[in-house]
Amino acid sequence: MGKDVIIACDFKSAEDTFAFLSKFTGKKPFVKIGMELFYAEGPSIVREIKKRGHKIFLDLKLHDIPNTVKKAMSVLRNLDVDITNLHAAGTKRMMEAALEGLTREDGTRPLLIAVTQLTSTDQESMENDLLIKAPIDEVVMHYAKNAADAGLDGVVCSPLEAEKVHNTCGKEFLTITPGVRFADGDIGDQKRVMTPAEAKKIGSDYIVVGRPITAADDPVAAYERCVNEFIG
Ligand code: C5P
Repeated sequence: MGKDVIIACDFKSAEDTFAFLSKFTGKKPFVKIGMELFYAEGPSIVREIKKRGHKIFLDLKLHDIPNTVKKAMSVLRNLDVDITNLHAAGTKRMMEAALEGLTREDGTRPLLIAVTQLTSTDQESMENDLLIKAPIDEVVMHYAKNAADAGLDGVVCSPLEAEKVHNTCGKEFLTITPGVRFADGDIGDQKRVMTPAEAKKIGSDYIVVGRPITAADDPVAAYERCVNEFIG
């Protein structure tokens, strides 16, 4: 799979999601299904979106004991998604177990991506709440390296960290970056943002874009602009 734009389908129901996706009559975009939609609609939403011809990033961020995550992943592998994820904080052993659970009998599996530190966690909350005293960018790189050592395919990170992740874990290790905004668009609640063109320049492999597309007056035009800027 090459570079692509993934639309974050942060909708509350299947009805809203399909109303949105029906606007795309040409190329079927790669979509991200998160916890809200998955918990509201269950696995059927994944099957239905897949049936319509979309690639899917199932963003459920698993984090539990290795055995539980392994078993959960062996259920998710039957949904035939293209990418899924977990928290690197669950340890290398959990990540290795997840990979085992996700691998089908014929050896194929979806790409498995780790969340390092959430972008909602800052140095202060990491030190005070989690009692992790190292600098946050060091923690992010350490978790990325753990994920690579465990055999995972990449990490979700801020576009500002993508270059360093590639330098630390290798060019083939994937970076999926949210926090993307058009140069003339609203930033909303995101703090550290990049345009699709900048994300391309620093070597992001996939960008995850929500509201700049889902809340646009013309979502298809906004998606195409994103693809043109990011892939060219
Ligand atoms: O609407 P917006 O473009 O901000 O959506 C970004 C998407 O990426 C949302 O689904 C958000 O939950 C997700 N995300 C993020 N930052 C992270 C991890 C995931 O914005 N660190």
